[in-house]
Amino acid sequence: MKMWIFAVLAALAVGASAQCPPTCATMKWATCDGPPCSCTLLIGNGTKQPIVCTALVPKCFLMKAEMYRARRGLSTRTIGGKQHETAIVDNDGIYDPECENDGKFKAKQCNNTDVCWCVNSAGVRRTDKGDQTLKCEKLVETNWVRLQLTHKEGPTNVNKDNLKAAIASELNSRYKLDSSLVKEIQYDPDARMIVVDVTKPKGERISDLSRMAYYMEKDVKALPLFTEQKNFTASVGGQTLMMEKIIVYYVDEEPPTMTMKHLTGGIIAVIVVVVLAVIAGLLAVFFFQKRQRKYKKTQQREMEQM
Ligand SMILES: *[C@@H]1O[C@H](CO)[C@@H](O)[C@H](O)[C@H]1NC(C)=O
Ligand SMILES: *[C@@H]1O[C@H](CO)[C@@H](O)[C@H](O)[C@H]1NC(C)=O
Ligand SMILES: *[C@@H]1O[C@H](CO)[C@@H](O)[C@H](O)[C@H]1NC(C)=O
Repeated sequence: MKMWIFAVLAALAVGASAQCPPTCATMKWATCDGPPCSCTLLIGNGTKQPIVCTALVPKCFLMKAEMYRARRGLSTRTIGGKQHETAIVDNDGIYDPECENDGKFKAKQCNNTDVCWCVNSAGVRRTDKGDQTLKCEKLVETNWVRLQLTHKEGPTNVNKDNLKAAIASELNSRYKLDSSLVKEIQYDPDARMIVVDVTKPKGERISDLSRMAYYMEKDVKALPLFTEQKNFTASVGGQTLMMEKIIVYYVDEEPPTMTMKHLTGGIIAVIVVVVLAVIAGLLAVFFFQKRQRKYKKTQQREMEQM
């Protein structure tokens, strides 16, 4: 009798393990079925993209899925910011990207319109917009992302070195990022700002910084893309830092070729000062000449009186 129960239990266990996992750990919108077991993500009208649920899903697929869901009124995102010499920020917002079979972005993107632009490996625009004839020679790799985080109020006397270790550890456990890529951390306790530089050597094509950055943006700005809705946190000296803001800057192996559309505050200030100086100079000359004329006139009158 005992043996019989044991055999049934064993059979159930085998049956269960042969079944598909009910969910995909790295993508909450994926569906898994089988056999043979496979998890897919809807990235278009009836287009099911197979994905690997033990790794982060390529950003290009995620954006397609988001566009698809947005068209169906299911989800959106917001974005903003600017800094660093050649760093670019994703100010354009979401578009429907074209992906390679392996999930890489195609170098040229048009968002299903006649307006096209070139993107980096993170899918962020790095050239001016053009028409369909625009040429994008190759996909330029983003080898450095700067994560500018603001943590919520609360934690005090946070040690910078411990903070760096805590962030590197969270990036590793959450996004499977090689901790050695976390190069530098700056911390401003008053502004509650943490700036994390994640860089990989030029030419390295193993780690994909765009996936990590995109998952993190979602974790801080919206809701996690992971099935498990756990918040991004850093634990330092018994305190838990929760993040409330993130701006991601992308630095590519080659500088972007966008023309400057907006004058920065500094340049505007210089122009204003120069213009004011010129006006002041002109006024000075004007009054000086007027005074000289008056002087001449009075001199003349005095002469006539004599
Ligand atoms: C999506 O598919 C449905 C039904 O198959 C069709 O009616 C609709 O036009 C398609 N939409 C797009 C954008 O292709
Ligand atoms: C892409 O097209 C969609 C509409 O189809 C639009 O909402 C979105 O703003 C466009 N994105 C860009 C970056 O042009
Ligand atoms: C995660 O963060 C959100 C927003 O700050 C908060 O409302 C929620 O309670 C947090 N969840 C957990 C499990 O801590």
